[in-house]
Amino acid sequence: MTDGRGDGGAGSGGGKSGGGSGGRDGSGNERRRGARRANRTGGDPRGRSRGPKVRVRTARGRKLSSTRWLERQLNDPYVAEAQRRGYRARSAFKLLELDEKLHLFRGVRRAVDLGCAPGSWLQVMVERLGHGAEVVGIDRLATDPVAGAAILEMDFLDPAADAALGEHLSGPVDLVVSDMAADTTGHKQTDHLRTMALCEAALDFAEAHLAPGGHFVAKVLQGGAEEALLRRMKAGFKTVKHVKPAASRPESVEWYVVAKGFRGRGD
Ligand SMILES: C[S@@+](CC[C@H](N)C(=O)[O-])C[C@H]1O[C@@H](n2cnc3c(N)ncnc32)[C@H](O)[C@@H]1O
Repeated sequence: MTDGRGDGGAGSGGGKSGGGSGGRDGSGNERRRGARRANRTGGDPRGRSRGPKVRVRTARGRKLSSTRWLERQLNDPYVAEAQRRGYRARSAFKLLELDEKLHLFRGVRRAVDLGCAPGSWLQVMVERLGHGAEVVGIDRLATDPVAGAAILEMDFLDPAADAALGEHLSGPVDLVVSDMAADTTGHKQTDHLRTMALCEAALDFAEAHLAPGGHFVAKVLQGGAEEALLRRMKAGFKTVKHVKPAASRPESVEWYVVAKGFRGRGD
């Protein structure tokens, strides 16, 4: 089962902040290059040194898995950077990297975030799209308010969700992103099917609401989108790519499928 901690909780690590001293080779040049790059892209903090690795002792009453999670959080440069920049989760860097690579945000005036809690993708979109953009998120869990975004607390698979989202949008959407993840059961096939069902529902929504030229991003598991879904995306969009952002933990089976240039509904 998922333990609900995943990538969230940038604020929960509680460790020392990275601070950006040092670089891959420890030279001043590398440091300056790293800082410039982080500022430009929204930050790939991998090159930032955080000093010696923080070790966490097992404590009475704390499970070994919790100790390992805490140690990983304290030593994760993305967690430190997310805390430093006020992002609610390290996942912010996944979306920033997808944009850096594939220019998702260019010209976007309306965007929808499916599975938005705790809200770091909303924070990134509001920040990057600027005032005047419409940003709407939905999650079955509560999401703390994000200034500049409308947030719905409901299950996206609820038949009423489509209309509820539509109430916050004044026209066709330019970008639909879905970071929705089904609760994992540990049974590979079941988890894959449930994630694909979410991805398919997100694609249904995107095809119904995207403006021509719009983009769609969805989380998929290793192995990528299923053949039928991929065929649909390839028919509906000009380009379709699978991307594993650097901020996605190497041991995680998640990937993102990015479909750009919606061809329109043809109706
Ligand atoms: C990995 S988190 C999203 C993190 C988010 N992108 C961020 O950066 O803050 C996945 C979210 O999908 C939500 N989710 C999964 N299935 C959903 C559904 N059917 N309807 C609404 N939200 C769903 C979960 O509640 C969870 O908050």
